[in-house]
Amino acid sequence: MEYKSMHMDKALLLYSGGLDTSVMIKWLQENLSLAVSTLTLNVGNSDLVAIQEKARTLGADPVFVHDAIDEFAQGFIAKSIMANGSYEGYPLSTALARPLMAEKAVEYAHRIGAKYVVHGSTGRGNDQVRFEVSIRAIDPSIQVLAPVREWNMMRKDEIDYAKKHGIPVKLDGKYSIDENIWGRSIEGPDIEDIGKGIPEDVYEWVTPPWQAKNDHIVKISFDGGIPTEIDGEKMKLSDIITYLNAVAGSSGIGLIDHMENRVVGLKSHEVYECPAATVITYAHRYLESLILNRNETEMKMFMDWQFSKFVYGGLWHDPVMNAINAAEAEFNRDINGELKIRMSHGLMYTEGAWGNSFLYSTDLINYSSNAFDQRSSKGFIDIYGNATIHSHKRALKMTGKVEGTSLQY
Ligand code: ARG
Repeated sequence: MEYKSMHMDKALLLYSGGLDTSVMIKWLQENLSLAVSTLTLNVGNSDLVAIQEKARTLGADPVFVHDAIDEFAQGFIAKSIMANGSYEGYPLSTALARPLMAEKAVEYAHRIGAKYVVHGSTGRGNDQVRFEVSIRAIDPSIQVLAPVREWNMMRKDEIDYAKKHGIPVKLDGKYSIDENIWGRSIEGPDIEDIGKGIPEDVYEWVTPPWQAKNDHIVKISFDGGIPTEIDGEKMKLSDIITYLNAVAGSSGIGLIDHMENRVVGLKSHEVYECPAATVITYAHRYLESLILNRNETEMKMFMDWQFSKFVYGGLWHDPVMNAINAAEAEFNRDINGELKIRMSHGLMYTEGAWGNSFLYSTDLINYSSNAFDQRSSKGFIDIYGNATIHSHKRALKMTGKVEGTSLQY
């Protein structure tokens, strides 16, 4: 093997342990005569020991595993929290992990001198776009292979191929699942049929709201837009997320039924379970609403959307992301405070908010306070309404209608 691999081109495969990438190890060896090395990133989903063993059994060498939970939480999820990351209601869980995986793939490919980086995404989805744009942006000399796009195997063919090559196949795999601490995504034929409801065996992280029996009250503290404490206890972000996935999930929070517009122009029906992402985003938005003024809110909504669109679309490594993230950091500078949230049957209610950077002031809005002089509003309305009032008057005149009637435009 040693001797052989000296003469073979090397490929670094992003390995999940699932059927596609397991078949791929053999396929790359057999069809392209490559020396295959695997990299498995733990972003909150993997049984690293079992995956490592499996890759070894299939002849991958070296087999790398990399625990990336905190890099993922601090370098990627944190930015998304600040930007209320959401693409059409989907908290970007898979999308956020891909650029990190691409970065690590290039790093490990360099380490072993691999010419190729290989991923297991299909030609219909977004992940191929994310992997390839990022890898090629980071190191254009690396060649990316996507065997699933080429080999034209149906699931049944893959299972046959696996059996022929002694690759262990888990037969319970009805759905295509991708998960990390920010969420679990489920795709599959049983979900594609829009004429049917979502099969209940899809749900693993969230107790469906109609079955949830638990109410939970949780206090979340934010510092600079990032959650830092749960119920008064300081925790690192990845632990906060893991904790909230469990408690919010059991209260029915975080089921997302998404008719999604993919980058490649296809619509797909997908299900997500994102309890922590849902409650953290809810809390972050609530806090923002207490702290940012109207102009900031409006501009931030635009920035948030740009952030989400670029991340979803696989353009994490575009220079515009530096500008977006800088703006988001600025908007989040004063997002500090604490929120008490009740989670119940899939819904969230704020039961108190505290902080010293709130713009919201009872003094200004209160009926019995004189901090704002109501009389100034009259002059404001005179000027503010000018354009509308005068244009409408003119329109009445031109249609021959008299004042006192109204027009349908
Ligand atoms: N549609 C989602 C996205 O583009 C999730 C894709 C994850 N893949 C899966 N096999 N569930 O981010």
